[in-house]
Amino acid sequence: MKATWILPDGREVTHDVAEGTNLMQVAVANGIRGIIGECGGSLSCATCHVVVDPAWAERVGPPEGFEDDMLDMADAGRQATSRLSCQIRMRPDLDGIVVHVPES
Ligand code: FES
Repeated sequence: MKATWILPDGREVTHDVAEGTNLMQVAVANGIRGIIGECGGSLSCATCHVVVDPAWAERVGPPEGFEDDMLDMADAGRQATSRLSCQIRMRPDLDGIVVHVPES
């Protein structure tokens, strides 16, 4: 399965993402600038913030509970389809997902 990150300068990068892997892990492993994943995915840093492309937002779904609170602390400012990418786990219906890396 694949995911695409659109960088602040408009460039697109696509990587393979195994089922069950979260998008933060793949972004960090591939050195995508702007995705830091400081807390390792334990929902306490908000440095993995992405804005889900509107075409995918419904399928990905909204943040819940603590993620919702953490998003308010995202450096780049929260947008309507913001999510913390450590909480987006790849599954078959997300194959091809597109997310935007916010300007930080
Ligand atoms: Fe820290 Fe996602 S990696 S909240």
